[in-house]
Parts: sequence; structure tokens; C-alpha cells
Amino acid sequence: MKTRGCMRVLLVMVLAAACSAAIRPERLRCEHLENPSGIDVAQPRLSWIVTSDERAQKQSGYRILVASSAEKLKKNQGDLWDSGRVPSDQTVLIPYGGKPLASAAPCWWKVKVWDGAGDASAWSAPARWSMGLLHDGDWKGAWIGLDHELDKPKDTDTKVYRPSPYLRKEFTVDKPVRRAVLYATALGIHELRLNGRRVGDDYFMPGWTDYKKRLYYQTCDVTDMLNTKGRNALGAILSDGWYAGNISILGQGFYGWHLRFRGQLNIEYADGSHQVVATDPSWTAAFGPILESDMQAGETYDARLEMPGWDRPGFDAAQWRPVAVTEKVDVPLQAYPSATTRIFKEIPPKSITTPAADTYVLDMGTNFAGWARLKVRGNAGDKVRLRFAERLNPDGTIYTENLRSARATDTYICKGGGLEEWQPQFTFHGFQYVEVTGYPGRLEPDAVIGVEITAAVDVAGSFACSSEQANALYRNICQTQRANFIEIPTDCPQRDERMGWTGDAQIYVRTATYNADVAAFIAKYMVDVEDGQYPDGGFPCMAPRPHDGVSPAWADAGVICPWTIYRVYGDRRIIERHYDAMTRWLDYCRTHSKDLIRPADGFGDWLSINADTPKDVLSTAYFARSTSLMAEMAAAVGKTADAEKYRRQFADIKQAFNKAFVAPDGRIKGSTQTVYVLALAFDLLDEPAAQKAADHLAADIRSRDGHLSTGFVGTKDLMPALTGSGRLDVAYRLFNNDTFPSWGFSIRHGATSIWERWNGWTPDEGFGDPKMNSFAHYSFGAVAEWMFKTIGGIDLLDPGYKRIAIRPAPGGGLDWANAAYDSIRGRIASNWKINEGTLTMDVHIPANTTAEVYVPTSAPDTIKESNRPARQAKGVTFLRNEKGAAVFELASGDYRFTADDPVIVESAR
Ligand code: BGC
Repeated sequence: MKTRGCMRVLLVMVLAAACSAAIRPERLRCEHLENPSGIDVAQPRLSWIVTSDERAQKQSGYRILVASSAEKLKKNQGDLWDSGRVPSDQTVLIPYGGKPLASAAPCWWKVKVWDGAGDASAWSAPARWSMGLLHDGDWKGAWIGLDHELDKPKDTDTKVYRPSPYLRKEFTVDKPVRRAVLYATALGIHELRLNGRRVGDDYFMPGWTDYKKRLYYQTCDVTDMLNTKGRNALGAILSDGWYAGNISILGQGFYGWHLRFRGQLNIEYADGSHQVVATDPSWTAAFGPILESDMQAGETYDARLEMPGWDRPGFDAAQWRPVAVTEKVDVPLQAYPSATTRIFKEIPPKSITTPAADTYVLDMGTNFAGWARLKVRGNAGDKVRLRFAERLNPDGTIYTENLRSARATDTYICKGGGLEEWQPQFTFHGFQYVEVTGYPGRLEPDAVIGVEITAAVDVAGSFACSSEQANALYRNICQTQRANFIEIPTDCPQRDERMGWTGDAQIYVRTATYNADVAAFIAKYMVDVEDGQYPDGGFPCMAPRPHDGVSPAWADAGVICPWTIYRVYGDRRIIERHYDAMTRWLDYCRTHSKDLIRPADGFGDWLSINADTPKDVLSTAYFARSTSLMAEMAAAVGKTADAEKYRRQFADIKQAFNKAFVAPDGRIKGSTQTVYVLALAFDLLDEPAAQKAADHLAADIRSRDGHLSTGFVGTKDLMPALTGSGRLDVAYRLFNNDTFPSWGFSIRHGATSIWERWNGWTPDEGFGDPKMNSFAHYSFGAVAEWMFKTIGGIDLLDPGYKRIAIRPAPGGGLDWANAAYDSIRGRIASNWKINEGTLTMDVHIPANTTAEVYVPTSAPDTIKESNRPARQAKGVTFLRNEKGAAVFELASGDYRFTADDPVIVESAR
């Protein structure tokens, strides 16, 4: 035994000595999850990033260990999986290949990698995930609640707000605990409490799904929150949420009315024994201080009704009532797969005005989603009312007409006796301004703090350049993305809508990926989209799908979003998962068309300006687009016959499009900017038609004194279509405009977010149509995709950024631009500047990837890398000269290129 022990030590030492690889594995993750929450796929996928300080580093192999405990992993025992050394350069989405993973199993893992020279790295730091409850039988609890006598309103105009039920249960723990995990779900939304503390940082759990098809559950490790010697108290508070509260204009109770909670705490003791504390008839319930809570209407809280200590052991619950029990709710429970909603940051007010007696208006300085945290000293019964708005009326009062029927009001009733601090739990608002009335005493600046919420996704991108207008635009785009990435990608966070409109999502999804790691968030949304698919194959206009309807360019999200996630994150599973649904959509398009021309249906180029794009042109263009993406995805998952079929179908649609809509002089039916944009961006034209279309597009922009006329659909591809057809000068003109309509116009007028419509507000007309006038719609923010790809120059050549393009296009009066993107393989950076006729480009390419870098110069011989002729530099290979740029292949690492005579494209006049 002794000898063997010594040998093992020696072996470890030998390994340690060999840990000299030039690359290191970092940032481990499982299934894109930000939280080590429950996963219920049989084969979770593992990814890591390799970093290196040296150029031209590749991974030649990896070894993954997965262990059932941290201790085993530390001892390098992969009792669940030891992949052994796998010769591979893969770092992304490697399917778990070990022993079957049991329900609730904790999994600890790490990885080591080998570099191109065959040297091994040290082991990565450990990471972990845990399996969810995989079988129905793992769930022990009943569905419990406390029903209020108020019935669901009879029509959508009548509103009924009920108090929130509080549920509690005490239990005893009398020996050392190894692990305690709480699983919870609800019809409605829940907040969990354990021994007087909130469990976790997530809001609005278990999220929004088509509750008839699936319901998610939350998983929280609460080991550290338990009293291990004695009494414990577990509690939950319920609210209507999306399940029973107002959604869109459909009123309350769309999915159901009676709120239910199902939870269970699985305790594993150090001695190997188990205890389960599950919801059952022994729990008790009461209504408390939350008198009303609704996503759109807001929250009313009467602090006089607080029940101090209700979530701690020893509370006197004699007055509490027995819970209502539902034995069975017939819907599959699945582990929450997405990024939960969390607090992003606190925002202090910028200024306070008093436009009327007893009325304070606080300007938070930016338009965001969340709530206000209140501090107040008052007498019992004093009622402070907070109303929320995005803009002000000319007299300084808040403008709320555009909220339509959303009440967006929070009310706090003081209990008296000192400083009180409160924030709502079950609502949020989209706002820049807070109106406070009924505040006792003088409102000091620290009495109200904005609390911004958003999906807990990692920020991925950064962008800055020498134009302050462009930087403000980028800030507004990120701000508006955060305000709308709350559980699902919504259209807006403020009015009585807040729905997962599919058109908006597909328009914006590529931009969203530049700004944040939205892989899990969009993958979850695609489940909603498929859940909403109609039996005839039509994808819905929104997901989850309370409203009916199928519209081209909206429904196409069912294909475009999975394709984008596949391209950006290299995720093939999302294709496999939705493959049949996507093909059914394409069948629908074929059967709902005549000679491959789609009918003039749907929303068209929504909110365009003085331009009427024919809907048959738009619909047919999107039919072609989805078909070509399907061909690419079929090939990616090895369905070669399908790939060929869709390639042929694309060629046929293209031919039909040209025959039906394109005149010999290159005019396309309708002759709007959007018809040319779509035809160019979706590759529907061959030469010379493509050149003619680009000319018509540029001419139309010129005829509007250099302005766009595109709506949601056309704007998405406007800048790429101009850039791709050689009219970058026109793209820069649109980008730099600050006259109506343009991005710059809203910024010149103080926008802190992206407006739904170009004419959301104009000096001549004031506010646009209040029926449709949100100041936080991300669709027009899709221009950030172009800002990253064309100004910053960062794009992908192969899925998952295995091969990268760095292709900045200096111009438009910019002196410099800095863009960075944290890809799934590590950070990519592209910074350029022009100084006294010299172009400098600083580029970072992550380890284990390669890039094609375009150095835009008309003097390719002057190109240097780190002060040496570029062709001699390590990691740099000259490929070709192409359209005003020298193109090099780059291995990983940091590079500094300089060149004379940079190619600079000025804005068109
Ligand atoms: C939403 C849009 C959506 C549209 C459909 C609106 O009410 O706010 O963003 O795409 O309806 O046309």
C-alpha cells in the first residue's frame, strides 16, 4: 500500500512538471448556464475558453474529469466521467460522455488541455453544475395555495387585484447536513424564503411559458441557509405574474386564476440519510401586506399588515389558515433553462422637480426597466404613490398616455414609527421618470433609488468610437436590450403589451448576441416559439402565444433565431431540436404561396416612414431567406438531401421573385428602400440587377435628402445591404444624420433608449400616436450589428467564431473605433485609429482560433506588424489584395498593424 501511495505522489509530480502548455483553460461552463442551477438534459454540454500570452497557440487535446464531489475532483478522480486524453481542438459544447447522471446529482468538473507542441496545461479551476429532478416520481409535493374569494373578471376592461398569499412550514434538522437543495415552481410567480432570508437573487420565477405545455422549476442550493441544529422555516409568497395577471391587452387570468406553489427541500445528511420537506396539507397560509401585485398595474403594499417573523421558526401562526391543495397539475415540469431576471444596478435620480403641489418628479437620467426603492418616515396609514413614465409633458408632469391601460403605479402605505424602506417584489415598469405623491415631509434625493433589472446574461460586447452620437446610440441600444430581455425578448417594458413579438426578436437577435451572451436566453425563447407553432406549421407572431396570428418576417424568427444561435455559438443541438418545426414552417410557406410567391399578408415593413413596401415582396423575400438558412442548417446537421432540396428551392424562389417583381430597369415592385434592401441582403439578385437595385436604393435615399424610410424589417438589413453593395458612403451618411428620421435625431432630442417609431416625438408634432409609442423598443437598435461588423470590423467566418473576420471600414468622419467581443472562444478585439494619414490596427485573436484580417490601405507594401514588414511577422500570412484591403491570415495572439494611405470612405452628401 505504502509503495503504491508513493508512486501516486510521484505521478502527480510528473504531471505537475509537465504542466507547461502555452495555453490555459479558463471560464468553464455547462450548457451556457450562468448559474449552477439544475439541468435536465441527459447529456449536458461542456465548454471552456483557452487563453495564452503567446501567439499562434492551438489546443491539440483535452481531458475532462467529472466527479460526484469536490473532494473527488480535487484528487483527480473522475468517478462520473474521465474522458481520457482526447486529441481535438474542440473547446465548445462537448457532450458529457460519462455514466448516466442521476436525478439531483451534483457534478464537479475540470479540464486540462494540450497545446500544439503537445505540452499539457495545469488543470482548470473546478466548476460545477447539478442535475435537476429528472423523473416525475422525484416530485413529492402537492400544489398548494390560498384562494381569495374574488373571482376572475368577466371582461378584459374590469380589473380585480387580490392580495398575495403567504405560505409557510416549519421543520426540524437535527444532524449535520451535507447538501440541501430547494426545488420550486408555481402557477403564478413565487419568492422563496428560508429562515428569514430571501432564497437566491432571481425574480419572477419560474418564468413564463405556455403553461399548458410546460412549466419550469427553480433549483437553489440552500445548504448554507439551514439551521443545522433545530427548527427551520420555509416560506413562499405568490403573485399573479404572467399566469394570472394582466398580459398584453388580454386582461387577467389568461392561463388560470388560482395560484399554486409546489416546492420541495431535499436534505442530504452527512450520515447518508435523506429528508424531504415538500408542500403538503400541513402547510399554512395567510394574506399579508401585499394587497395588489401585477406586472402591468404595479404593487400596493400596506406595511401595517406585515407579519414580522412569518418566515422564521417560532412564529405564531395560530391565525393562519389551512392551504388549498391541488393534487395534480397536468403539465411537464422542467428545469429552468434560461437566464433568470436579476437586479442589474441601482440608479440614483439625476434631478427632482415639483411640477404641481405635492408632486415630485424624479428624472432617473435613463430609460430602463425595474422599479424604485423607497425610503420614507411617516405616520401609520400615510400613502405614498409612485407612478412611472418614459417622458414628460411640456408642463413637466409625467406623460403616461403611451402606457395605454397599464396602470404602472406602486403604492406604499406606511406603518409609522421610523425609517421604512420598501421595494416591490412582483412587478416592474419601463421608465425614466418617477412621480411621487403623498410623500410625508420633504423628499430628499436619496429617498428614491432606481433599481434596474434584466436577464442575468454576461455582457459580451463593447463599442466606442470618436463620434459621441454613435457612442450615445450604442449606450441606448444596450440600455433598451436590457429593458426588454426580461424572461423573454419583449417588444417593450412599459405599456400593456410586453410580449415576445417574434418579428422584433429575429430582427434584433444578431445584435443581441454582440451585446451579451444570450445563447441560453434565446434557446429558451425558441422553445416558446415552437410551443406556439400552429398545427399547420405557421410560427406565431409572439411567443409565448396568447394572441393568434402568423405574419411573414415575424414567423420567420422560427428559423432565423436558431440559425443565429448556431452561427454565433456553434450550437447544432438547437437546429436538431427545432428541425421538424422549421421544416413545417417552410412547408407552410410553400403551400401558402402561388408559384412560390407568398401572398400580401402580415405586418409588412412595420412603422416605415412614408413608404409602402408591398407585402408580397417582403413575404416572398423572407420565404427565400428562411429557405437558404434551412439549407445551411440541414448541411450542418448532416442532412445532405434536405440541404440540396432547400438549395434548389431557394434558387426557384429567387427566380420566381425576379419574374414577379423585378423590372428590366432593375426596379422592384413598390420601389421602396426596403424592397431593395431585402433583395440585396437576401441574395435575390444577380448582376446586373443587383447593381441596379443598389443604385435605386441610393437614389431613393438621395431623393429624401439622405434619409431612410425603412420600418422594422427594412432597417435591420439597410446598412449591411448598402455596405455589401459598395455604398458604404450612403450607410455612413444615414449613420451620421441627426435630422428626422434617423437614429441621431432621437439622440439630439435627448433619447436615452431606442424609440419604437422614428416619429415617437418630433418638435412639430409632439408625441407620436400614443396607441403605439414606446420609447424602449429595440428593433431599430439592430444597427449595432453593423456597428460591430463594419465600424469595429468583428464578424465570424465559421460557426462559433472558430474562424474570425476582422474587417473594419474606416470612414464617415470617424478617427478611431474600439470594438471588443467576448466570443464563446474568448475575447476578440479590433481597435483602429487614423492619425496623420497612418492607420493603426490593434487586434486580438483568441487562442485556438484563426482570423482573416483586412487592412484597408491602398499602399499594401507599407503594412507593418509590430514595426516589421507584415509578411515576416510571426502568426501572419499574406493571403491576397482585395478591394482596397490587404488580407492576412492570423493565428491567435495580439497584433499591431500600421499602414500608410488608409482607405477611408466619406459620408455621401
Ligand atoms: C409591437 C411590435 C410588434 C407589432 C406587430 C406591436 O404592438 O409593439 O413591436 O412587432 O405590434 O406589428
